[in-house]
Amino acid sequence: MSTSATFRVWRGDETKGELVDYKTPVSEGMVVLDAIHQIQAEQANDLAVRWNCKAGKCGSCSAEINGKPKLMCMTRLSELPLDKPVTVEPMRSFKPIRDLVTDVSWNFRVKKEIKPFKPRTPDAPDGTWRMAQSDVDRVQEFRKCIECFLCQDVCHVLRDHKKHEEFIGPRFLVYAAALEMHPLDVEDRVADLKREHGIGYCNITKCCTKVCPESITITDNAIIPLKERVVDEFYDPLGKLVKIFSRRKKDA
Ligand code: SF4
Ligand code: SF4
Ligand code: FES
Repeated sequence: MSTSATFRVWRGDETKGELVDYKTPVSEGMVVLDAIHQIQAEQANDLAVRWNCKAGKCGSCSAEINGKPKLMCMTRLSELPLDKPVTVEPMRSFKPIRDLVTDVSWNFRVKKEIKPFKPRTPDAPDGTWRMAQSDVDRVQEFRKCIECFLCQDVCHVLRDHKKHEEFIGPRFLVYAAALEMHPLDVEDRVADLKREHGIGYCNITKCCTKVCPESITITDNAIIPLKERVVDEFYDPLGKLVKIFSRRKKDA
């Protein structure tokens, strides 16, 4: 690995910004977040960057590195071509606050609009529930989400078309899927998914799945099954009845 590299970092705020070059020493084992911290310590004390865990678990250090949505703390310099400047920019689906920090508060407002978990009546005299392991396993993947919002950043519906008021984005389709497919949940979110949450905007490009640092199969395992429920409910009521009937027969 070379002994120094240039980082082309976006500096600015909501009103304006530009890419600024910083040359800094690099060494074996460094990640992009290390380089940014080094630049902050030695050359640009006012450089704003959000991070917490440096272990790929808090979801705070999301950015666009050489144009790709990634976690800064999980992107090793050894994976990048250091013979040219490494660009580090904030996520583009959200308003910039300063430098690499964006305003992701919209995501937390969206989350509150999704109907919460509503468990069915306990099925044992001691007030507990029984669940099939296969049903538990099905939703386990969705619980790995670290809310980094990289999937929201890459989704063209939010990024290019700015449909934030009409579409909840892949992160919250994963969240809705975790609730809808939960073996104890009895709430119905299907009409909301169609009308309020804009699931129809997703055209299954799978860009969200490709950038997820937790390798959640967002499109195939969360979005497509939810889209099927919407189709069953709104466009194929007969098919829906058949499915409910066969599910009841299976459970009997
Ligand atoms: S698959 Fe759907 S949600 Fe995911 S990036 Fe593409 S349009 Fe967005
Ligand atoms: S689904 Fe994946 S990419 Fe999207 S917020 Fe969760 S962890 Fe990040
Ligand atoms: S600092 Fe927590 S995920 Fe990168």
